[in-house]
Amino acid sequence: MERTLVLVKPDAMERGLAGEIISRLERLGLRIVALRLLHMDEALARRHYAEHEGKPFFEELIRYITSSPVIAAVFQGDNAVKMVRQAMGDIDPARAMPGTIRGDLGIDIGHNSVHGSDSLETAEKEIRLFFDEGDLFS
Ligand code: RTP
Ligand code: MG
Repeated sequence: MERTLVLVKPDAMERGLAGEIISRLERLGLRIVALRLLHMDEALARRHYAEHEGKPFFEELIRYITSSPVIAAVFQGDNAVKMVRQAMGDIDPARAMPGTIRGDLGIDIGHNSVHGSDSLETAEKEIRLFFDEGDLFS
């Protein structure tokens, strides 16, 4: 059974959309096996987004993701990584299909409401940034 890390990003938290986003993922048949509300500090944000270090949008991305509390959750199920990525839609809400989270709720490419791990390997690394193994139910 796969598991994947989801973040409800600051734009969605500030607009009160956390429940809707989590609900959409639950309705896909994915199960919440860990969940916490936290204010990411700069060190955690830099580790989580390390692959983007040096890109033009990196510093703004770190400022943004640390700007207010986020929800971190682990969803488990068959093909969890792909299911969440499909439900999220394109990174740019202007291109994301209606019916996807970013297509329906995202504001712009930098404020796209949700994060989901992009591979199984990334998922396991990201889960460990936010949770201890003992925090995970299954
Ligand atoms: P995420 O990591 O947040 O799930 O998003 P993603 O895989 O779809 O996109 P990724 O390429 O990993 O980008 C990570 C986050 O960086 C911000 N970003 N801004 N202004 C820009 O051109 C730009 N490009 C990326 C977004 O917040 C994106 O979700
Ligand atoms: Mg990514």
